Amino acid sequence: MSKEYKIAVVNGDGIGNEIVPAGVSVLNAAAKKYGFSIQKENFSWGAGHYLKHGEFMPDNGLETIKKFDAIYFGAVGLPEVDDTLPAKDYTFRVRTELQQYVNYRPVKLFSGVQSPLRDKTEKDIDFVILRENNEGEFVQNGKILYPDTPNGVAVDTSMVTRLGVERIAHYAFKLAQKRSKKVTNVTKSNTLIYTLGFWDQIIAEVAEQYPDVSYDKMYVDNAAASFVLKPEVFDVIVTTNMIGDILSDLGGAIMGSLGLGGSGNINPEGEFPSMFEPIHGSAPDIAGQNIANPIGQIWSAAIMLEHLGEKEAAQNIVDGIEHATAQGNLTKDLKGNASTSEVAERIVNYINS
Ligand code: NAI
Ligand code: MG
Repeated sequence: MSKEYKIAVVNGDGIGNEIVPAGVSVLNAAAKKYGFSIQKENFSWGAGHYLKHGEFMPDNGLETIKKFDAIYFGAVGLPEVDDTLPAKDYTFRVRTELQQYVNYRPVKLFSGVQSPLRDKTEKDIDFVILRENNEGEFVQNGKILYPDTPNGVAVDTSMVTRLGVERIAHYAFKLAQKRSKKVTNVTKSNTLIYTLGFWDQIIAEVAEQYPDVSYDKMYVDNAAASFVLKPEVFDVIVTTNMIGDILSDLGGAIMGSLGLGGSGNINPEGEFPSMFEPIHGSAPDIAGQNIANPIGQIWSAAIMLEHLGEKEAAQNIVDGIEHATAQGNLTKDLKGNASTSEVAERIVNYINS
């Protein structure tokens, strides 16, 4: 009997309703070609759900998706909904409660795409950002006191745990062993001396267990400049939740568009399903026009299949993306005039051919 994967599909809001179906069409083609089947169930969660029902997902939502092998997700958020809710009530909730502590975000220049870095080529831009996904600056551990008075005060306390740093560090060194054997810890421990001093200390301890992998650390201000001036120095970057969030948009930008970035929120132990989504948001400014770039979403499908063990199918999808871009099948964000569905069709045809 052929393998069957149960996938929870969450389009979310905005362009999610266009790029997720595009990604699903590619997944279906890959499943057919490589002899596995995908059993999908759609969940209409997100800011649109909130407007109708007062919540991003039902109370038993997490329990429901725990039964799946993976979650294929677009993005959540709408201009008319309080923008502190998408993260708190959906993305962080899923990422933390399902222990998806690795946010895997590859950065790669596809052929046929022009990077804004005019002198850089495909061999210069090819690395992975591993963003710690469960703690750090984004734990929302804080308080506002007397907000409307002259002595108003607000605090946000970042949190770093030994267990949390060790596990992402081990993931980084193991991944580097499969790539170019180089880990760069992007940090800011010269000023955030407590949390990130501890972070650096633990990563350096873990580094000693991987003598075959070279290790260095770089402050984030320097790393931001290096993304632009010398991206070729990076192979595997391990960094904190907020730094990783910011640098991955910069990674998207040097690839040519935010719309190209795919990602996985991964629970490496497989105790819970992992969630795969593009690095960008719901882009309400371009929603409903069939012009969004579906490649980040499609690449996320490849990362999902790789995680599920369907490595050939995953590679075939990435090859299909590269085929589409190399042939100039580009959406508006890449100065092309292909529609969302045309790019997806091109990739489906490549897989079927
Ligand atoms: P965004 O990533 O949605 O958009 C930023 C810019 O990039 C926009 O100009 C947009 O048109 C463009 N863009 C993004 N994806 C694109 C694609 N696939 N093709 C072509 N252009 C693309 O970020 P923004 O505007 O800050 O946030 C919009 C909403 O998304 C907010 O409600 C925000 O909270 C939410 N959001 C949700 C995320 C998630 O669900 N994981 C992540 C980031 C933001
Ligand atoms: Mg972000």
